[in-house]
Amino acid sequence: MNIAVFASGNGSNFAAIAEAIKKGEIKANLKALIVDKPKAYVISRAKEYNIPCYIVKLKDFNNKEEYEEKIVSILKPLNIDLICLAGYMKICGEVLLNNYPNKIINIHPALLPAFKGAHAILDAYNYGVKITGVTIHYVNNEIDGGKIIAQEAVTINDDEKIETLETRIHEVEHKLYVKTINKLLEDYNARIIKC
Ligand code: GRF
Repeated sequence: MNIAVFASGNGSNFAAIAEAIKKGEIKANLKALIVDKPKAYVISRAKEYNIPCYIVKLKDFNNKEEYEEKIVSILKPLNIDLICLAGYMKICGEVLLNNYPNKIINIHPALLPAFKGAHAILDAYNYGVKITGVTIHYVNNEIDGGKIIAQEAVTINDDEKIETLETRIHEVEHKLYVKTINKLLEDYNARIIKC
């Protein structure tokens, strides 16, 4: 199975996936990192893991369709089977969704459908919920929408600081993303008939 990761920022989830592939814990190929922000730290992580990185900026195109067509033109020759969004700060448009139906997944740092959006950890913390967590879901055209594939709960302790909660959530994310990709890989391999 060939995987592409899309990211816009730090890239700790990208690194978790790249590390698991390097160690043989995920038996797949990490073919590309697509980044929309030229200064994103994830770019240096891709260099570290020797993963081809493609920087594609929306503002270089007339519209979102043309931007996504460029991305598809990069991915098609690589025979990508699964796109993992990992802190990719854009909503996927029709071009990506139509070219990769049920093949785009996202990780979100809360128990969806609660706390959608870019500040999910802080929003859950400020709301005072006692249990939050991590969700991995298929991607559709809504922010953090799409069928849920996996979730893991994280308990917020009474004296918890936001910083420790963030750290604990990210630790869960890195493990859950690897585990979920492996589950999808199992399903993918089960569909191949050996003869
Ligand atoms: C993660 O918390 C992920 O759930 C969210 O964006 C964050 C990306 O973190 N969608 P990183 O760039 O992978 O470190």
